[in-house]
Amino acid sequence: MQLPSSATVAAAVLSVVLLISATEAHNITNILASHTQFSTFNRYLTTTHLAAEINRRQTITVCVVDNAGMSDLLSKHLSIYTIKNVLSFHVLLDYFDAKKLHQITNGTALAATMFQATGSATGSSGFVNITDLKGGKVGLSPADYNVPTPAKFVKSIVEIPFNISVIQISMILPSDEAEAPTPGPSQMNLTFLMSVQGCKVFAETLLASPAEKTFEDNVDGGLTIFCPGDDAMKKFLPKFKNLTAEGKQSLLEYHGIPIYQSISNLKSNNGDMNTLATDGAKKYAVVIQNDGEDVTIKTKIVTAKITATLVDKLPLAIYSLDKVLLPKELFKAAPTPAPAPAPEAHAESPKHSKSPPAPASPADSPADSPTDGPNSDADDLTDSGAVKYNAGASLAAVFSLWFAFNLLM
Ligand SMILES: *[C@@H]1O[C@H](CO)[C@@H](O)[C@H](O)[C@H]1NC(C)=O
Ligand SMILES: *[C@@H]1O[C@H](CO)[C@@H](O)[C@H](O)[C@H]1NC(C)=O
Ligand SMILES: *[C@@H]1O[C@H](CO)[C@@H](O)[C@H](O)[C@H]1NC(C)=O
Ligand SMILES: *[C@@H]1O[C@H](CO)[C@@H](O)[C@H](O)[C@H]1NC(C)=O
Ligand SMILES: *[C@@H]1O[C@H](CO)[C@@H](O)[C@H](O)[C@H]1NC(C)=O
Ligand SMILES: *[C@@H]1O[C@H](CO)[C@@H](O)[C@H](O)[C@H]1NC(C)=O
Repeated sequence: MQLPSSATVAAAVLSVVLLISATEAHNITNILASHTQFSTFNRYLTTTHLAAEINRRQTITVCVVDNAGMSDLLSKHLSIYTIKNVLSFHVLLDYFDAKKLHQITNGTALAATMFQATGSATGSSGFVNITDLKGGKVGLSPADYNVPTPAKFVKSIVEIPFNISVIQISMILPSDEAEAPTPGPSQMNLTFLMSVQGCKVFAETLLASPAEKTFEDNVDGGLTIFCPGDDAMKKFLPKFKNLTAEGKQSLLEYHGIPIYQSISNLKSNNGDMNTLATDGAKKYAVVIQNDGEDVTIKTKIVTAKITATLVDKLPLAIYSLDKVLLPKELFKAAPTPAPAPAPEAHAESPKHSKSPPAPASPADSPADSPTDGPNSDADDLTDSGAVKYNAGASLAAVFSLWFAFNLLM
């Protein structure tokens, strides 16, 4: 067998290690996926990024409530941070399955929670009091409550001793401290944050539009903004002024995604995404796609690249772009009915970005490519070729390693 280079071996070892930890750790999203009565709880574990924290830990208990219990919580209209605090109060940092819950030494115990572990809780407020009650019932209460709450253990959902236990409880555990309003970035001045970091023109355009309120309204629930840099935005202004009032608002809202996407989310979640401009049949979607280390945002007309991260803190992310995003709903691509089998939107390459594309630019028509380049297409091909090659190489390396490993066994 041919010996792989040390770099390939290192990469292969890493892949194998990642593979092992990925297969052996639990996945709370997956565990709850088949239990539709907990779908809201499950969704919020993902939105608040608690799922990842739960998956990282061992010897824990997740106390879930059904969708009705979650609507009680959601009806309080708490911010996403506060919901995160409340849900983290439902993750006990010890393993309690049905058997252990019913056999608590001396009938009562305090369990530390993930909320306590965040350091946000004071005194005993981050602990849950578990008490064995008459008639085989188990009560759960915030430890700092004098009067026990009516929350009870309902049933065990999944037990993986002693890694994770998922139990259903009858209601959300109240906690004044976990439910206390958490200062969120809704107080942040979005336009200011963009203005001082190279997106002044976009920020000023936004301030003069009703779109600004759309952005503000979405911060608490999670928001990602792609702001075109000043050069790109300045060149675009004449075309912007030509749009109708509605078109202007949609164009601006097209630069926001109503969920929080960290840069690593963007790198791992390639594909179509709705924007703040999406309105029923008017899709106004963008396509997120990796290009090596870069993240690109594609429309049918233009491919923009993320040039910098201005803000990245749950629930708000702001990235600057090298181009203005042109939705096909406002800027028609070529009328030529060219039945292009080639991948779309390859025409714009950062190297050739002398000017932003014209509204009626037939940028994604292959017939017009010569202006913007066979080069860019060639680049893309080379890139994807390289990616394929690397993937193949590391797969081969992993396989070799696996083979060598089996020989040793
Ligand atoms: C518990 O987690 C450890 C470490 O991730 C793993 O090795 C073990 O297989 C897990 N146990 C079960 C029953 O899944
Ligand atoms: C956990 O499972 C969900 C749903 O099956 C999946 O989308 C997600 O990628 C998994 N997470 C990890 C870390 O494997
Ligand atoms: C149980 O109660 C006994 C007597 O009150 C005490 O000594 C012991 O520490 C308690 N055990 C636990 C785990 O609390
Ligand atoms: C838990 O709460 C019950 C009822 O309020 C109380 O009697 C018990 O002492 C508490 N347990 C602990 C460990 O604080
Ligand atoms: C936010 O910053 C902009 C400058 O970008 C300023 O004009 C505006 O008044 C600020 N808004 C608030 C609410 O402070
Ligand atoms: C604005 O619209 C007019 C009329 O439709 C057109 O002639 C002009 O070229 C447009 N200007 C720009 C900058 O797109």
